[in-house]
Amino acid sequence: MISPRLLQIAMLVEKNKVVFDVGSDHALLPCFLVENNISPKVYAGEIALGPLNKAKENIEKHHLEDKVIPVFSDGLAKAEDDVDIVIIAGMGYHTIKHILDSCDVYKYQYFLIQSNSDVELVRQYISDHMYTIEDERVVYDGFYYQIIRFSADLHEPYTELEIKYGPINLKRRDEVFISYLLDYKKRLENINVKANKAEYSQIIREIEEILGYNN
Ligand SMILES: C[S@@+](CC[C@H](N)C(=O)[O-])C[C@H]1O[C@@H](n2cnc3c(N)ncnc32)[C@H](O)[C@@H]1O
Repeated sequence: MISPRLLQIAMLVEKNKVVFDVGSDHALLPCFLVENNISPKVYAGEIALGPLNKAKENIEKHHLEDKVIPVFSDGLAKAEDDVDIVIIAGMGYHTIKHILDSCDVYKYQYFLIQSNSDVELVRQYISDHMYTIEDERVVYDGFYYQIIRFSADLHEPYTELEIKYGPINLKRRDEVFISYLLDYKKRLENINVKANKAEYSQIIREIEEILGYNN
């Protein structure tokens, strides 16, 4: 079974689409997508030979050689033309930015991005390019992870609050997003006891407003 984080990403993949998983490591997600009849074909892209070989071993173990295709590639540089959906997960913002800057975003139906760092910079990047955030999820898997689905459809720039917390998260206000906010607020309050910094108090007030506190 795959982790809750990868499972949540899998649940955002539309059925019967060809997927390219950038930085696939052991190809766990591509094998899951094919074995569960979500995707007919998934490319497992890797820039490093070690993980690529692990991916090949895993694909053979699952007898998925005709449906999960390992690709030695920096980002989408070697992607075939039949790809619909791109997944970029488990990497930092700067690697994600490099991958997006180096490809033609307009060629793909949508991207699923899960950044291990600076999620607000991912949203800033999407906003600066006037792309559209179509969906978002927060998932707890030891840490809180955020998954963003975006497409190259034209959208006006997002507000500062939307960039920080996510336009769909703010609208949907689902349970995990609220837990994430409460956890974030608690962490800031703990730091603030020692540092007493105005910027922390400001973020705490902002979170309380989103949570609907009166004071
Ligand atoms: C921490 S793993 C994440 C694996 C998986 N995507 C996940 O979310 O669990 C990151 C992988 O991305 C690969 N990677 C880093 N930069 C890359 C790039 N520019 N193109 C393709 N793969 C890359 C690394 O070699 C590594 O195997």
